[in-house]
Amino acid sequence: MNLTLHVWRQRNQRTEGRFVTYQATDVSPEMSFLEMLDVVNERILQEGQEPIAFDHDCREGICGTCGMVINGAAHGPRRLTTTCQLHMRTFADGDTITIEPWRAAAFPVIKDLVVDRTALDRIVQNGGYISINTGSAPDGNAVAVPKEAAERAMDAAACIGCGACVAACPNASAMLFTAAKVSHLGLLPQGQAERSSRALRMVAAMDAAGFGGCTNHGECEAACPKGIPLETIARLNRDFLRASLTRRPKSTASGGAG
Ligand code: SF4
Ligand code: FES
Repeated sequence: MNLTLHVWRQRNQRTEGRFVTYQATDVSPEMSFLEMLDVVNERILQEGQEPIAFDHDCREGICGTCGMVINGAAHGPRRLTTTCQLHMRTFADGDTITIEPWRAAAFPVIKDLVVDRTALDRIVQNGGYISINTGSAPDGNAVAVPKEAAERAMDAAACIGCGACVAACPNASAMLFTAAKVSHLGLLPQGQAERSSRALRMVAAMDAAGFGGCTNHGECEAACPKGIPLETIARLNRDFLRASLTRRPKSTASGGAG
């Protein structure tokens, strides 16, 4: 296959970017999208130019680092597929492919296709854990977990933190990501002690990071490579509302309100 690539090149956060056109020749349909970029980069290096910077790690749909916008779609045209698992047979010989970084104010471009996604880490730092002292490891059957709750928690835990939901959303909202992180702990008995504070703190961190609000476009669900459903956001909204209505005022230093 021979392809024409329009690739976003940007030296760093402070400089302006632009599209640069490259020819990708002799591409095997069995290559992954990242392998195709590797081949293009080898040629760019041989020509003494700087290779295209893009993020990647596992290359098997687990780590969530390989996000890029391909022909206007986060992770490209195939549903439930990360960029690293997208194969060139998805495209046709002679195609033109436009490749851009995630576009969101909360994800500043570091270089070319690499963006800073630490805003998602800050959301997780504000509640993506259970901090109660659980003592030594309990017997496996000591805490009964309803099957449906376990399955839904596992579904939510499938989120790989790629940020495609943010990139696909017209508001650059991180609600689907945040909802997945709140849900996978909030659905389990072990996560109940901090369920309310977790919802409040993670939503506050999401707002502080500069993500937009959710207006129910549903683009996040369509772009998510792990199939996190929109109902996850409805669950977060219920938890957040309940927590907001039942929030108790903080204790004062003199031991008041409590
Ligand atoms: S919810 Fe889906 S699209 Fe969003 S970060 Fe998680 S895996 Fe990626
Ligand atoms: S490189 Fe890890 S999910 Fe794509």
